[in-house]
Amino acid sequence: MTTFDLDKIPSQKGRIAIVTGANIGLGFETALGLAKKEMTVVLACRNIEKAKLAKQDILKEVPNADLEIMQIDLSKLDAVRAFAKTYLEKYQTLDLLINNAGVMVPPFSLTKDGFELQMAANYFGHFLLTGLLLKTILATPNSRIVSLSSMAHRSGKINFDDLQSRQKYSAIQAYSQSKLACLMYGYELQRRLEVAGHTTTISTIAHPGASHTNLGQHIPKWAMTLFSVFMPLFSHSAKAGAQPTLWAAIGVAEGGDYFGPTGFREIKGKPGKVDSTPLSKDKDIAKKLWEVSEQLTDISYSF
Ligand SMILES: NC(=O)c1ccc[n+]([C@@H]2O[C@H](COP(=O)([O-])OP(=O)(O)OC[C@H]3O[C@@H](n4cnc5c(N)ncnc54)[C@H](OP(=O)(O)O)[C@@H]3O)[C@@H](O)[C@H]2O)c1
Repeated sequence: MTTFDLDKIPSQKGRIAIVTGANIGLGFETALGLAKKEMTVVLACRNIEKAKLAKQDILKEVPNADLEIMQIDLSKLDAVRAFAKTYLEKYQTLDLLINNAGVMVPPFSLTKDGFELQMAANYFGHFLLTGLLLKTILATPNSRIVSLSSMAHRSGKINFDDLQSRQKYSAIQAYSQSKLACLMYGYELQRRLEVAGHTTTISTIAHPGASHTNLGQHIPKWAMTLFSVFMPLFSHSAKAGAQPTLWAAIGVAEGGDYFGPTGFREIKGKPGKVDSTPLSKDKDIAKKLWEVSEQLTDISYSF
């Protein structure tokens, strides 16, 4: 398949998806798209009131949508564990895990687990969540794990000497590092699935280009005002930005595929397969990052 058209995707009735950060932006559009395809969607959000509003909005468009709200804070390992426990007590299968939630360029802070906030919410929380749900995902035929990366991965480096930016914090560098980590994780997870002989569960990755969402909330007001002048030229809607994620989730894809907008510099445009930097494909760094992540989140993935 060289194009993706949600309308042409068959019904996904009977299948279950978790979308993290589903209350707004790309996560909301992704959840809406899946609901349109009759999937059961778990809206995994940290704020229940916001999630309720999102649920109402989805129901306005898809009155028979099968939606469930479950609370998760991806920046807290114990909250991720609590979410996984609640999910596994209720469901025996999981067809799609969409690791979407994220935060960009906040002021420096360390979480109570000792992680820099962006690394915590964007990367480590999802690393742990996937590990905790993996057995159930593997037991579900044709299941997928979708990681959200960004164009920002291109300027990212995994700084093992100061992974949590304790010595020096650059908000944008930490964001880029977290999004590079998500991408490297998506590739490494696929490699590990293959080594373990799992052919019906795959890991795919997506990025939305530059999408008009709430992600810029921590960018200074003056910069946002300036950017808003050029916004129509250099960004697209959240709905358009969610198309690569939806393709990675329910379109024709192979393990390790990376989807994004295919217009100028992948900023916007129709979704398609895209490439990533040589660094993002470095297997040694990915292996080291995996090992460090298992150690820091106290989980040992079992394939
Ligand atoms: N927009 C873009 O141009 C762009 C570009 C590249 C990549 N991305 C990636 O796309 C993903 C979605 O971003 P977006 O643009 O849709 O941003 P958004 O509108 O700000 O939505 C982010 C979502 O993540 C949730 N979230 C943040 N921290 C969380 C935490 N600790 N625990 C649980 N949920 C948390 C937010 O919840 P609250 O509403 O409660 O804050 C919200 O639901 C992110 O991974 C981002 O890095 C976006």
